[in-house]
Amino acid sequence: TYKLAIAGGGSTYTPGIVRSLMDRLEDLPLEEIRFYDIDGERQSKVVVAATAVIREYSDSIKVLDTTDPETAFTDVDFVFAQMRVGKYAMRELDEKIPLSHDVVGQETCGPGGLAYGLRTIFPMVELIDFVEQYAKKDCWIVNYSNPASIVAEGVRKLRPDARVLNICDMPVATMRNMSAILGVERDELKVDYFGLNHFGWFTRVEVDGVDRLPELRKHVSEHGLLTEDVSKIDYRHADASWIKTFKNIKPIMDFFPDYLPNPYLQYYLLPEYIVENSNKEYTRANEVMDGREKSLFETVRKYEETGVLEDAFHVGVHGIFIVDVTVSLAQNLGERHLVMVENNGTIPNLPADAMIEVPASITSDGPVPEYVGEIPYFHKAMIDQQLASEKLLVEAITEGSYEKALQAFTLNKTIPSAIVAKKILDDLIEANQAYWPTL
Ligand code: G6P
Ligand code: MN
Repeated sequence: TYKLAIAGGGSTYTPGIVRSLMDRLEDLPLEEIRFYDIDGERQSKVVVAATAVIREYSDSIKVLDTTDPETAFTDVDFVFAQMRVGKYAMRELDEKIPLSHDVVGQETCGPGGLAYGLRTIFPMVELIDFVEQYAKKDCWIVNYSNPASIVAEGVRKLRPDARVLNICDMPVATMRNMSAILGVERDELKVDYFGLNHFGWFTRVEVDGVDRLPELRKHVSEHGLLTEDVSKIDYRHADASWIKTFKNIKPIMDFFPDYLPNPYLQYYLLPEYIVENSNKEYTRANEVMDGREKSLFETVRKYEETGVLEDAFHVGVHGIFIVDVTVSLAQNLGERHLVMVENNGTIPNLPADAMIEVPASITSDGPVPEYVGEIPYFHKAMIDQQLASEKLLVEAITEGSYEKALQAFTLNKTIPSAIVAKKILDDLIEANQAYWPTL
C-alpha cells in the first residue's frame, strides 16, 4: 500500500481527485493521504469534504492535514501537485490586466499565462526539493500545476533529474467530448497528437482501426466540440465559458485542414475575436469564484452543520486522468497517455530540449514517448515562436532579466506589438510584486 500527498490540498479540485483515487483503490491501494498547502485554513475546509468522500469507501485510510513539508512528504510514494500560486485573486488579475489592453485574458495562454509562470517556477522548484528531501527515493510527483508548459520547461532546466511527470487534462477532456460526438467510449479512442501543452493538434482519432478524424472535423466545424446534449460532457465543462471555448474552436478549423486543433489554439489564432467576446469585468476567475469555490465552501459548512454531504463531487476526466497515469506509474503498466516529455528527437525538426506533449507509454521509470516524426512547417513555426516565448520567460525568471521577460511577452502570438507587450508587462510587474522575482 502507498502513501500519497496532495500538494495544493486546498484546491477546489481536491475532493474530485480524491473520489477518483477511491474508485481505483484496488489498483492503487492507499494507507494514507496527506494534504499539504501553505494556506492551512483554506485547506482544512477542503479536507473536511475530502475526508467525507474517503470515509464513504474506507475507515482505515489515514488522513493528514498539514502545512509542514516534512510532515507532508516524509516517506510518501506519490505526490500530486496542483499549486495555484496567488490563488483566484491573482488569476483574476492575470485575466483582467491583459483584457484592459484589449489582449486575451486567460490563465495559461497569453500574458496571463506568462505572469502565472513567473509566480510558479520557484515555488514548484521548492516543492520538488522538499519532496526529494523527505519522500521515498523513487517517489513520483505527478504535476497538474499551471501554466504547465512553462512549469515543465522550468523544471527541466532547474531540476533536470527530478521525478516529475507533467500532465494536463485538456487532451483527455477533448477526447471525452470527441467520444460523446462519435457515440463511443473514451477508452475506445486511440489518438495521435503533437505539440506543446495547450498548443497542439490531434492528427488521428482511431476507433476500431478506422480514422474518424474527418468525420469529427466536420462535426466540430459545424457545432464546435460539443454534443447537442451537454450533459454528456463533464459538469465543469458545462459552465457557460467552457461551452464558449468548445464552440469558439469552429473558426480555426479551416487553418488546419488535416488535424483537429487543441481548443486553446483559439487564443493564439483569433485573439481579437476572443477579446471582443470577453467580458472585461467578469472573467473565468469570477465564474469559478462564484461557482465552484462558493459551492465547495458552502457544502463544507452545511456538512459540518448537518452531517450530510450535499455535493457528491462526481468524478470527471480531470480526476480520472491523474489517477490513470499514477496507476500506470505504480504498476509499470506502460499505458499510453498524452503527457509532457523532453523532445530528444521525438519530433526531429523541433529542438531536442523542447518540452512537448505527445503520446507516451507510462512506465515506473517515467514516460517513454512514441516517435512522432517531422511536423509540417506551419505548425513547426507556430511552435517555435511559442517555445521561444516560454523559454525566454524561464530565463527571465532565473536570470532576473526584464529584457528577456519583455522578449517573452513580445513573442507571444496573443500580443499584437512590442509596445503593448511592454505596457502589459509593466502592469503585471506592479500587480505581482508579492510574487515575482525582481526583474
Ligand atoms: C483545463 C486545463 C487546465 C486549466 C483548467 C481551468 O483543465 O487543462 O490547464 O487549469 O482547464 O479550468 P477552470 O475550470 O478552473 O477554468
Ligand atoms: Mn491544462
